[in-house]
Amino acid sequence: MNKLNPLLIVVVTSVFALLALSQCSKRDNETTTYDFEHNLADLNQVQIIGKKIFFDKNLSSPAGQSCASCHNPATGFSDPALKPFSEGAVAGRFGNRNAPPLGYLSFSPVRYFDNVDSTFVGGLFLDGRVNSLKEQVRFPLLNHLEMNNGSISEVVTKVSQANYATLFKNTFGKNIFDDTTAAFDAISKAVAEFERSEQVSPFSSKYDAYLDGEASLTPQELRGLQLFNDTAKGKCANCHPSDADNDFGAALFTDFTYDNIGLPHNPNATTSQSDWGLGAIVNNPSMNGQFKVPSLRNVAVSAPYFHNGYFDNLNDAVRFYSERDVPGKFPAPEASQNVNKDELGDLHLTPQEIDDIVAFLKTLTDGY
Ligand code: HEC
Ligand code: HEC
Repeated sequence: MNKLNPLLIVVVTSVFALLALSQCSKRDNETTTYDFEHNLADLNQVQIIGKKIFFDKNLSSPAGQSCASCHNPATGFSDPALKPFSEGAVAGRFGNRNAPPLGYLSFSPVRYFDNVDSTFVGGLFLDGRVNSLKEQVRFPLLNHLEMNNGSISEVVTKVSQANYATLFKNTFGKNIFDDTTAAFDAISKAVAEFERSEQVSPFSSKYDAYLDGEASLTPQELRGLQLFNDTAKGKCANCHPSDADNDFGAALFTDFTYDNIGLPHNPNATTSQSDWGLGAIVNNPSMNGQFKVPSLRNVAVSAPYFHNGYFDNLNDAVRFYSERDVPGKFPAPEASQNVNKDELGDLHLTPQEIDDIVAFLKTLTDGY
């Protein structure tokens, strides 16, 4: 806030007040989103614009869907509908991947191949096909299964008519809307800056308080943490590191690598075609079935789980790691190449130990 002059604050606040009034009736049952949406604390001007775009339901075709529809702050910026696949702006259209939480993505490096560990690292989307948050913004806006705009100029026109258009012009230049490419670039930049803000990556979970010595974990949560880190038991931290002692200087619960954990095809998908993930992007069949290791922050509120939403609860998701290779427990992997059998699949965790890990995962929800 200290970066804004007082006049601007008054203007911005009035715009928000108007917006709040105009949207009240539509949003009665979205209380949590509503409160978050209008909190501008610690956002700079570009981030404020990005936040307004992120929540703007007029930016889909037909109108009615915003980024926040599938990435709701109340569910860790994932889809609040407890379904594996999100419905697009056009009713009845579904993609084949589960809308992931968006927190902590700003830490993701640009995708590169790590020769030492022989694995790709970094990149966005679950298959790593784009490199930056800014570059990513156009995809959902133009995807016919999501926000369904026909072109970037359609998006720019809508933003130029939005109630934050003046703020946009004051920030990016009064003639910005005359140049579609520049305007779309500014839109992408603003959304990415909002996604990079502390509002999206607040590090405010019970676990963070515990690391700071301001909260203590229950005995069960501590047992879960130990199992999570234990390289002979849960082995989770092998891929979801729980400490801040890494290149990123923060406990992110992902090392941004890729793995094939052997998930079965989701029979509820709209296609029986296989999803090869990273393998299709880098054109290397030996990497079929590999998907990005996601952060586990906010995982307790972001069901369903995995790239295809195969499991609707955490207990089953963790049980899968322990029992995948026990005959008769789960269907065969969708991609049989390179299934990781060293670190997961037959962990011999007891039901109590699985509960303990789940109890620990619940300490990763922001807003403690
Ligand atoms: C209809 C639901 C839907 C809407 C609307 C939507 N998304 Fe997504 N989002 C998804 C899905 C599904 C994925 C995963 C797709 C994939 O990996 O192929 C995703 C992935 C992402 C990712 C990458 C996450 C990661 O882990 O790398 C970002 C960033 C993102 N969305 C931001 C946005 C923004 C910004 C908007 C609005 C301009 C938006 N999304 C609108 C469903 C949606
Ligand atoms: C070898 C690396 C690796 C290990 C070890 C590992 N994971 Fe994962 N984890 C992944 C990958 C990769 C994904 C995404 C897979 C996909 O969607 O296809 C994932 C996804 C998840 C998800 C789903 C998150 C979401 O938002 O959908 C949960 C929950 C999870 N892991 C928990 C655990 C727990 C608990 C352990 C230990 C018992 C563990 N993981 C061990 C690599 C690993």
